Amino acid sequence: MAKTTSGFEVPNLFSAAGKTAVVTGGSSGLGLIMAEALLRGGATVLIASRKQSKCDEAQAYLSAFGDCFALAADVTVAQHRQALRDYAAELFGSKGLSILVNNAGANWGASIEQYPDDAFAKVMNTNVNSVFSLTRDLLPLLEMAANELNPARVVNIGSMDGLHVPIVQRVPTFAYSASKAALHHLTRTLAVDLGPRGITVNAIAPGFFHSKMADHVLKEYGDDIAGDSPLGRCGEPEEIAGALIYLVSRAGAYTNGIVLPVDGGTHISKGRRDWMESH
Ligand SMILES: NC(=O)c1ccc[n+]([C@@H]2O[C@H](COP(=O)([O-])OP(=O)(O)OC[C@H]3O[C@@H](n4cnc5c(N)ncnc54)[C@H](OP(=O)(O)O)[C@@H]3O)[C@@H](O)[C@H]2O)c1
Repeated sequence: MAKTTSGFEVPNLFSAAGKTAVVTGGSSGLGLIMAEALLRGGATVLIASRKQSKCDEAQAYLSAFGDCFALAADVTVAQHRQALRDYAAELFGSKGLSILVNNAGANWGASIEQYPDDAFAKVMNTNVNSVFSLTRDLLPLLEMAANELNPARVVNIGSMDGLHVPIVQRVPTFAYSASKAALHHLTRTLAVDLGPRGITVNAIAPGFFHSKMADHVLKEYGDDIAGDSPLGRCGEPEEIAGALIYLVSRAGAYTNGIVLPVDGGTHISKGRRDWMESH
């Protein structure tokens, strides 16, 4: 009979108790859900997004679940990243930073002829460059929280669009797909580099979940998008929350460098049979 080397309780395996976290883009959509999940799991959470009003509103909502702080900061701006690092250092003190969720993201859709260079650059800058820069800027705090059996965790929010070529929403999103594929590989590169320093780096690649970014597409093509998934629906908040909690808890401590699709199998399928037959 196989025996564990140490006893464990399942709720403890999936706990974030005592941890400290920064969630970028934590004021809405998936970021708000993940911030709530971390708070419910027992972590202290600092959210950051550009707009003060959205930060205030989210902080008021999230404070019902635990100790939540918020800072208006644009992750693409070096001074704002420094302000975020300074605030996290002040809040978390000698605990350092146990969890960084790089979630803030941008998208742009247009035909190839209409696709502006500056939009392409902005999407790449937000979804790739700033993830690298913020992770680097927060490294001293992440290292403070790291130990061998309980590494600090970086979780990058990629997309199934970085795993397949999205067509169901009709409008091409060239920069977005390229940026998310780049982010997935940046995740692997960082995982190899930072593993020896006691920091794991993983990515979640979500399918469609309701959010400000996704809702205008879901409004127009919701039925096709649901039908594009083998499960015939979009994701629910608990399903992104659960993936994050796995990666940041004791349960995920030996998981490093993965890209975890949470999309009902959309990226590996050509949709459900009934969707295909009706087209
Ligand atoms: N929802 C989906 O179906 C889906 C699917 C796959 C991947 N994703 C990914 O999930 C992440 C979150 O997207 P979402 O759907 O939840 O979108 P969302 O509801 O529009 O949320 C985006 C968040 O990021 C913040 N933000 C945007 N640019 C920022 C910047 N430069 N600096 C700091 N904060 C910034 C926004 O707040 P401010 O406006 O205040 O800055 C907001 O809090 C993105 O990386 C997205 O690519 C989403």
